[in-house]
Amino acid sequence: AAGRVVVVGSFNVDHVWALAALPRPGETLAGTYHTGPGGKGFNQATAAARAGAATAFVCALGDDAGGQLARALAAGDGIDLRALQSAQPTGTAGIYVDGEGRNTIVIGPGANAELSPAFVGEHAAALAAAQVALAQLETPDESAVAAFARARDAGGSTLLNPAPADAVASDALWALTDVATPNETEFCAQLRRRGGAALDPDALAGLDDATLHAHCRQLLAHGSVVITLGKSGCFVSHAVAALRGDAQAFYRVDAATVKAIDTTGAGDAFNGALAAALAREPGAAFAEHVRYAVRFAGLSTERTGAASAMPRDAEVRARFG
Ligand code: RIB
Ligand code: NA
Repeated sequence: AAGRVVVVGSFNVDHVWALAALPRPGETLAGTYHTGPGGKGFNQATAAARAGAATAFVCALGDDAGGQLARALAAGDGIDLRALQSAQPTGTAGIYVDGEGRNTIVIGPGANAELSPAFVGEHAAALAAAQVALAQLETPDESAVAAFARARDAGGSTLLNPAPADAVASDALWALTDVATPNETEFCAQLRRRGGAALDPDALAGLDDATLHAHCRQLLAHGSVVITLGKSGCFVSHAVAALRGDAQAFYRVDAATVKAIDTTGAGDAFNGALAAALAREPGAAFAEHVRYAVRFAGLSTERTGAASAMPRDAEVRARFG
């Protein structure tokens, strides 16, 4: 079976400038400009669809060119789009990408801020049919709570990408989360918010496994945590050994060997691919799904852009076997 995924989240029109170094206060720099589809929600939905899952995307769009772009692209990727029509403009993001492929992002939420639990409730049947519901924090927390509650009621798994780092996830959302997938920055920010230690994101990958495991358990006591560590791969921590088909409660997975030129949306690629893999084979070893997601995400960094940089399942398999 292909597996069914529902993604609840944001769509943004990304405005991207590529430059040698990121601008500092007071600087005026020239860069190479391009625009394209983004938003963590849409990037993840595109990744899930291209990874082979039957994917629905619940979002909010403005009555403008950005909204039309989202509809056209979703149709092209076979994504079942469920869009609240908002009076606000479609979401936007301003992105700078430096010569090493690193980025800084500013978002204008627009319509994304209007995604409501009531609208999510109108799509309860799609959520009930999904093996995996996936959400991030660029749309209101309550809409993710509504989605996760419905998916859980129907026996589905819930996957929370607690991004961006400055966004708060409610206790209700954490309580409904089976798997959380922060990057280093998001992990440290969310852990601190939930009463955990103040950790340095740059030092996180260097901590020993048992220590990282303990911090993960503080972030999410009952579920699984996957910290994505960029070039260092990821760290996986389960509440219980043998949970999700793994033999160990915690372990690392290496990053794929790639030539990164633009890491924008790499985390989103990881999340969409992980959701698709989990939906396809809920009983298989979790470590295998993480390995697939790491490869999928790696390939996405070899292309410019966010949603449009997502590879297809066949390309991932051809490249990495
Ligand atoms: O995760 C990358 C995404 O963050 C970009 O596409 C941008 O739109 C912001 O949502
Ligand atoms: Na990319």
